[in-house]
Amino acid sequence: MAFRSLILQTFIALVALVSSSLCLPCMGNTSSPNPIAQQYPNLVSGTLNGTTLIVPIPLDQARGMIPKEYVILENAYRDLLPLFPAGFYPLMVTTAFDHDLKLPAYNVTVEDFSRSGLEFPFLDILGNGYSNFRWAPTMMITSTAQTAITGSRGLGLQIWPSKFDPPCDPYKRTSNGSTHLHSELSDPAAADYRYMTVQTQPSPAFVPYPLTFIRNVTNQPTFANTSLCDNYIRLYNTSNSAAPPRPSPNQTWTGVYGWNYATAFIEPPVPGNCSDLANFVDL
Ligand SMILES: *[C@@H]1O[C@H](CO)[C@@H](O)[C@H](O)[C@H]1NC(C)=O
Ligand SMILES: *[C@@H]1O[C@H](CO)[C@@H](O)[C@H](O)[C@H]1NC(C)=O
Ligand SMILES: *[C@@H]1O[C@H](CO)[C@@H](O)[C@H](O)[C@H]1NC(C)=O
Ligand SMILES: *[C@@H]1O[C@H](CO)[C@@H](O)[C@H](O)[C@H]1NC(C)=O
Ligand SMILES: *[C@@H]1O[C@H](CO)[C@@H](O)[C@H](O)[C@H]1NC(C)=O
Ligand SMILES: *[C@@H]1O[C@H](CO)[C@@H](O)[C@H](O)[C@H]1NC(C)=O
Ligand SMILES: *[C@@H]1O[C@H](CO)[C@@H](O)[C@H](O)[C@H]1NC(C)=O
Ligand SMILES: *[C@@H]1O[C@H](CO)[C@@H](O)[C@H](O)[C@H]1NC(C)=O
Ligand SMILES: *[C@@H]1O[C@H](CO)[C@@H](O)[C@H](O)[C@H]1NC(C)=O
Repeated sequence: MAFRSLILQTFIALVALVSSSLCLPCMGNTSSPNPIAQQYPNLVSGTLNGTTLIVPIPLDQARGMIPKEYVILENAYRDLLPLFPAGFYPLMVTTAFDHDLKLPAYNVTVEDFSRSGLEFPFLDILGNGYSNFRWAPTMMITSTAQTAITGSRGLGLQIWPSKFDPPCDPYKRTSNGSTHLHSELSDPAAADYRYMTVQTQPSPAFVPYPLTFIRNVTNQPTFANTSLCDNYIRLYNTSNSAAPPRPSPNQTWTGVYGWNYATAFIEPPVPGNCSDLANFVDL
């Protein structure tokens, strides 16, 4: 679980691109098998391997991207990160490879897929002043992963079928320890063409976001539309251990920090009522 600094770019641009070649199944992957499928037969489980970045953005910019009816629980993230810069909000950038997904009770396996997107943690959608939810309105997902695309659309997410480089791993690692991931829409002619590139390099000496913070933000119940929530839980104790918002065209962030890491996860097979998760307790 090395800590990384990174270079991240999300671009929305009109660029002609060569067509995709995705591997199916994901041969050549280097992720560990799902370690907990038999332990949680009635839940979807798998290995989630990827990168979580925290991008401090001005609170007023966050306020402009997040629907007005969701209150930003600034005190909650200041509790966890007392030194987080005043007037800023921790936008999350998530890129991940979902590997070896299983639902044993129904004898179901789901094809591997990659995804990337912007996520907005610490939102009070119930108006109780303390329940933290994470808004994930949009996502790029491997274009051939029909189950993941259909499931995510069912939660209300806007999905962009995309291709990923590398296609069957969360990132490529070079000999000096840096990592690279690129995702882009499969349809290069799409009117809302976009892509995301994440480059990281090790930063062992400076760790502004402790793993307890990453654990907290990644385990807040997720929603795209408040009528349904996904109680997706990353397990940190296993052996693995409206109009959608968009950054301005060709937004580049450099020198932001995060983690490259893998965990097992469990997820209910069907989404739930957000209110029922109000008193959700992290495992
Ligand atoms: C990649 O994942 C698949 C499915 O989980 C697995 O069968 C395969 O052995 C893995 N490794 C390689 C090197 O392809
Ligand atoms: C996560 O992915 C990286 C890059 O492909 C790989 O080196 C690492 O072994 C994977 N970790 C797990 C636990 O799957
Ligand atoms: C589970 O699925 C596999 C592969 O489709 C099949 O071979 C097997 O018979 C199924 N097992 C049960 C208990 O349905
Ligand atoms: C590591 O290698 C990558 C790819 O060759 C390069 O882009 C990057 O600048 C290198 N990083 C360092 C810290 O030397
Ligand atoms: C995240 O931290 C906040 C603030 O301390 C806390 O209220 C909340 O319960 C935590 N959530 C999770 C999922 O750990
Ligand atoms: C949220 O989902 C409900 C039920 O599917 C739907 O009626 C509503 O229009 C959706 N709201 C938005 C903002 O997409
Ligand atoms: C969710 O549960 C709350 C409280 O029990 C209820 O008022 C609400 O109608 C439910 N929402 C949906 C979409 O079922
Ligand atoms: C964004 O970047 C791409 C690739 O570098 C470039 O072709 C395009 O013109 C840029 N768009 C804007 C709006 O700057
Ligand atoms: C991990 O935590 C979960 C939830 O508390 C628990 O059910 C499971 O037994 C734990 N696994 C290990 C290996 O400790």
